[in-house]
Amino acid sequence: MTSASAPLPPPRTPGRYRLAVVCLGNICRSPMAHVVLEQRVAEAGLADAVEVTSCGTGGWHVGGPMDDRAAATLTAAGYDATRHRARQLTPDWLEDRDLLLAMDETNLAELGGASERVRLFRSFDPVGTGGEVPDPYYGGDDGFEEVLAMVERTSTALAGALQHLLGRA
Ligand code: 4NP
Repeated sequence: MTSASAPLPPPRTPGRYRLAVVCLGNICRSPMAHVVLEQRVAEAGLADAVEVTSCGTGGWHVGGPMDDRAAATLTAAGYDATRHRARQLTPDWLEDRDLLLAMDETNLAELGGASERVRLFRSFDPVGTGGEVPDPYYGGDDGFEEVLAMVERTSTALAGALQHLLGRA
């Protein structure tokens, strides 16, 4: 089930929420989603209750910063891209996060497929609901702008859903 009407799964610990965004390398898409979602969560007044983390299913870039083009796109839009360090998925994330959001179908399959706590990030996108966030790594700068627009829309929707779920609307 990946429609926008799918409710957020309940928190494992009442009043708190741990979200993870997942892509392949954790240097382009999931870092952009991580930074934007964290900002939306803070703007929604939920910084004390909601944790956002990100990782890649692959480990090539672990410990490194995000891709320069991803960072430039975020910086130009007013976000802080400097704090990111790439991480790789480990099985415990599936046990302790409340919700894992995959950028594309391949990432979703690496997470074991869709389930109550695992779904596509864009299942919360009000535009093109349930689509993939396309990998911009091998393309041009346009791809990063497209990713930013998707993660901004989706993060706004997610922050609103979290406010309702946590009774903080
Ligand atoms: P991401 O993009 O999954 O959005 O971080 C990629 C980054 C690196 C590679 C592939 C995709 N790579 O093959 O190194």
